[in-house]
Formats: sequence, structure tokens, C-alpha cells
Amino acid sequence: AATDATPKDLTHQILYALSEAEPLLSAEAFPQAAFTDLKAALDRLGSREMVKYDTIDREEAILEAEGETIAANGSHEARVFEALRQAVEGLTVQELENTIGDKNVTKVGQSKAFKEKWISRTKDGKFKTARDSIEDVTKEQVQTIRQTRTHPDPKVIADLKKRKLIKTQKVISFKIHKGPKFALEIAKEETDLTADMIASGAWKTAAFKPYNFKALGADQNAGALHPLNKVRSEFRQIFFEMGFEEMPTSQFVESGFWNFDTLFVPQQHPARDLQDTFYISDPKAADKPRPTGPDDTRDYEEVWDNVRQVHENGKFGSIGYRYPWSPEESLRLVLRTHTTAVSAAMLHKLAAQRGKDGRVPPARYFSIDRVFRNESVDATHLAEFHQVEGVIADYGLTLGGLMEFMEIFFGKMGLTDLQFKPAYNPYTEPSMEIFAFHKGLNKLVEIGNSGMFRPEFLESVGLPKDLRVYGWGLSLERPTMIKYGISNIRELLGHKVDLNFIERNPAVRLDKD
Ligand code: PHE
Repeated sequence: AATDATPKDLTHQILYALSEAEPLLSAEAFPQAAFTDLKAALDRLGSREMVKYDTIDREEAILEAEGETIAANGSHEARVFEALRQAVEGLTVQELENTIGDKNVTKVGQSKAFKEKWISRTKDGKFKTARDSIEDVTKEQVQTIRQTRTHPDPKVIADLKKRKLIKTQKVISFKIHKGPKFALEIAKEETDLTADMIASGAWKTAAFKPYNFKALGADQNAGALHPLNKVRSEFRQIFFEMGFEEMPTSQFVESGFWNFDTLFVPQQHPARDLQDTFYISDPKAADKPRPTGPDDTRDYEEVWDNVRQVHENGKFGSIGYRYPWSPEESLRLVLRTHTTAVSAAMLHKLAAQRGKDGRVPPARYFSIDRVFRNESVDATHLAEFHQVEGVIADYGLTLGGLMEFMEIFFGKMGLTDLQFKPAYNPYTEPSMEIFAFHKGLNKLVEIGNSGMFRPEFLESVGLPKDLRVYGWGLSLERPTMIKYGISNIRELLGHKVDLNFIERNPAVRLDKD
């Protein structure tokens, strides 16, 4: 029967202890209980008004290893005194050290014992005691601390701490009182008011469990979208909202022609080096650009000739690069280095809509997809990443209009106060890098590259002279990393991604502040 009455869990232990002593000090009653267990048990009882409690913040003093030695064997100086008290003739340093058996204790102890005038030297240089008895205050102090975890005199604590014999640490304990509904057993609490309870009248005396409005819902075992996917869908939303049409980007392999040559990137340009671009070895080369089917009304002969001429001798008012343009180089297959390759092909397709008046309708295109660059991988670079790209073709467009558009576009992602820096792209003039102030990083960060496409490109693909086209691009990873507080891109993409990180992230919000 005795064992039956033994309280099993902490809540019961608290109730039993409290029935015997009030107030109850948790540090004394439950010295072994973990703080969190204790707090949980008290909160459980507290919510039922069975107990009330206050927290007590206290500094506790704990002996360091040397303090422990002193508590057990006495202070160094007392040990020296004791050794000499037993040697009537006195001891040499060596003899003293042998007796005590510790060089350091002997050294520190004898120097302190001298200072206290407990010991002195004989004529022949030996140590001897200088009085009959001493009081080992340090030993008493550390013993007090070992027992009570504190000392009545705060100066003693400060002194022993300085001597590295003790350390102090903060502990939180509880002073527990009985509450208005104190009892030894936790009454069963009803969670639902049932029809039966109403019919029988049992509800009158039933104890109802209070609602816990802070309770979290149960974890759902569900799939999760990758942060890049979530930010991508936000971008798509912004584009659709602004009247853009999505470009087909499922083809990762392009010819140099669409990736570089139409875009007026000369064949000697460093971006076309093996170090920067991945080339496909099989098949060796692309076919010359040709119609994709009977409905394809684009003029492929013309674009091919235009591109050759504009590179070699110049055309459309340009003097060109003046080098022998190589069709073989142009037909090499590459993993696209930017989605502007797709924009180029799409603008060529737009040119096929030219009416009798020579005009094409205004157009807005976007894409968000993968690109490849032969980069050495580090915390901010990967060999494959995603580009967000936009193109606007219309009449009467100006550079000021592009800047205004950028303010609106990036403003929708919460990026304001843009700054523009002149830049260079072979296919745009003027070109601008776009910077935004990042509050978290407290500095300007580059968020994109943009420009107005050159006539060498636009007229080569067959667009009218007076049509102006804006283009811009940015990586999808950069804003995602900023948003999710990731500093290493490899945590976002590739084999090092932590699946827990993906699962735990909330649905995306492009915060406006
Ligand atoms: N292609 C550019 C890049 O990779 C982005 C860009 C697109 C710039 C269109 C201007 C016009 O950074």
C-alpha cells in the first residue's frame, strides 16, 4: 500500500510535498528535477488553479576542481602548516615537498603561510611553524559553499571567484503555494459538453478543461514546395499581372546562333570560351536554323544572312565587328548561358507577325528557367541556376520608361529606391545594372541587368526600325537567398540541400517592408 501511495510523476510529487510544507521551494524539494520538467508540471497544475508559484532567480556558487581539493584536504597554506607542525626539527624545501607530495601546493602554500606569519625559517634555512595553531578560513568557506551553494558574505564569493576556486551560475527555482483548487489528485477534466451531461445534470458539477488557445495544430505529414519554386510562382504572378506572356524554355540546348550570334555577341567574345560555356560534343553541330513545321512562317534565310553581315561588315547603320564570321562556330551546340537565347528566338517569331504596314504588335514576354555556366562553384556561384527574364517590345519606348518600369516591377517584390549603373552587354545599348538597398544587409545589392536591345539584333531578326525593345534579367536564386536568409547558394540548390529546411519553410510571402 505504501508503494501505491508513492507519487509517480512530478505533478503528483509537487502536490504531495506541498501538502506537507508550504511554501515549497523547488530547489530544496526537487534538486534533481530539470527546469523545463518542473515548469511544465507547475503550469499544468497552475492552469487548474491547484498551485500558484513565483520564480526565484538566484546566483549559485559551485566549486571548481581546486576548490574541491581544498574542501577535502585544506588550503595549500594550511597543508604546509600541518606538515611543519608535525616535523619538530623543521623541514627543507625538498622534505616539505616530499611530505606534501605536490610541488605546486608546496610552492603556493609556503609563500602564503609566510605572508600569514604562520611559518618562519630556522637559522639553517629550514621551514618551521611560527605559532601553535591556525584557522583554515578558506577551507571553511569552500565547505560552506559546497553545502549551501552560496556564502552569507558576498565579499567571500567575489574573493573565491577571483582566486578561481569557485564559479557562479544563474539558477531559476520556484516558490510554490497551494492554489484555490488544491487537492492531492488531479481531477478528471471534461473536454466536451455532451448531451448526456445536460440530460443527467452532470454538467453542474463537472470540471471543464479550459481551452488552450495557444495550442499548435498537429504536424501534417505533407509534401513541400522548394523555396525556388515558391519565389518563382510569385514572379510569374507579377508577370501575368502586368500582361506578360510566358516564353517556352524547355529546350536547354541552343545553337551558338541563338545564344550568341543573333544577340551580336562576337565569336571572339570571352563569354564564348570553353571556360565560360558548356559545349555539347554529341551531336557535333546544330542544323542551320530552319522552319519547325508548316505553320512556321519565320524567315530563317534572312536572319542567317543578316547576322553574318552585321558581324562581318556591318548593317542597319552599324559598322559591325569586321571579322570573318564562322557558320561552324555559330552552329556549335551549347547549354544555354542565358534565357536571352529564347528571347532572341521569340522576337524573331514576333517579326513574322509583321503586317502590310510593316508593323508588329507590341509584346511582353517573360521566362523563368534554368541556365548553365562553366563557373567554379562557391558560396555564391553554381554551374546551373535560374534566370528570370523579361522583354517588352513597343513603339516610343525610352530609357526613362525602362527605369520607371523597373521601379514598378521590383516594387511589386518589395524592392524600392532602385539605383542604376551604366553597364555593357553586346546586345543592349544603353545597358544598366540594377541595384536595390537591402535592409537586412544594410547595403546596395545588385539585383539585375537590363538594357535596350541594339538595332544590330532587332533588325537582324526582322523587326521594324522604330520598334524599341527593353530586356532585363536576374537570377532567381539571389532574391530567394535574401528572402530565406541563406548565405550559401549550395544550401538552396544541389545535393547539399537539407530536406528539413525545405519542409519547414512557410508558404512564400514577398514582404513589402
Ligand atoms: N542576359 C543578361 C544576363 O544574363 C540579362 C539581360 C537580358 C540583359 C536582357 C539585358 C537584356 O545577365
